[in-house]
Amino acid sequence: MLDQLDAVLDEARAALAGVADEAQLRDQEVHFLGKKGALTALMKGMRNVAPADRPLVGQRVNEVRAEITSAIEARRSELEAARIAALCDDPDFDATLPLAGPPRTRSVGALHPLTQVTRHIEDVFRAMGFHLLDYPEVETEFQNFDSLNIPATHPARDMQDTFWLKNGNLLRTHTSTGQVRAMRELGPPFRAIFPGRVFRYEAVDASHEHTFHQCEGLMVDRHVSVANLIHSMKTLLSNIFERDVTVRLRPGYFPFVEPGFELDIQCQVCGGKGCAVCKQSGWVELLPCGLVHPNVLRHGGLDPDEWEGWAFGLGLSRLVMMKYQIEDIRHLLGGDLRFLSQFRQG
Ligand code: DAH
Repeated sequence: MLDQLDAVLDEARAALAGVADEAQLRDQEVHFLGKKGALTALMKGMRNVAPADRPLVGQRVNEVRAEITSAIEARRSELEAARIAALCDDPDFDATLPLAGPPRTRSVGALHPLTQVTRHIEDVFRAMGFHLLDYPEVETEFQNFDSLNIPATHPARDMQDTFWLKNGNLLRTHTSTGQVRAMRELGPPFRAIFPGRVFRYEAVDASHEHTFHQCEGLMVDRHVSVANLIHSMKTLLSNIFERDVTVRLRPGYFPFVEPGFELDIQCQVCGGKGCAVCKQSGWVELLPCGLVHPNVLRHGGLDPDEWEGWAFGLGLSRLVMMKYQIEDIRHLLGGDLRFLSQFRQG
């Protein structure tokens, strides 16, 4: 057995010296060390070795295996060095090109899911005759609160924890800041949406972020109706989800609408069974809305006896989470490419 082992080692050395390239080297590696290789075959003869000799023979098997392995590695380095030397001698060799191997793929960027859904919403509303507006993220206290019928003494100010700036301005806590701006800019009658980022001084968890996205919608005319508002919301949702989704309407309180509603959608992440996203309730508050409060119309320079409006403040981040069944809001702005690359289109 010991002689046979030595013979295999000699054979392997001779064979390795003769290999001309990587492929042949791999063949020899399999031939000597593979599962069905020469060494494994030899080891089958172990049972014929006298028990007293087995430790010695076993040790020699390991030595031979180690020697062949290092001979293979040495040959591999030689081949690699020879290949590089040959390349360097080649007058056409361009050292700035990648070495042979799979072609380097260029990674292609894609639109963020929030952008994709925002564009989808813009398309739906543009088709219904809405303007698309864009308003500042840094706002005045008046615009964020007072103009929306939330004076300083109003308890509703506590509903939204605010990032205040040293100069008394703030990071807008909602896109509703655009309502009075839109009324003054466009003049009635009009309809408009204004999507954007909003900010809250929040403890972050699976369903809360300090920075998230909303889309405000506002329609002002001589007569508007809750029926029309609800119809528009349903049109939007069935378009976005490309199927009928279960919604429910509840009364909701917001100082800038009267009456106000909460339009909830059945949680698409858990199918209504209850999960972290819907806080185990099976429903997600997605679309608060209502008829514009007369005081807000007044701030917009409009006579509430002449003009009416409806408004909604769609939770865009939540909508994206529902559409793509994302269970944690922190993924959205986390910047992890493994997450983002799942939303490549086409
Ligand atoms: N701005 C509110 C918020 O972020 C949401 C909202 C409620 C907007 C009712 C509206 C509305 O336009 O009518 O909490």
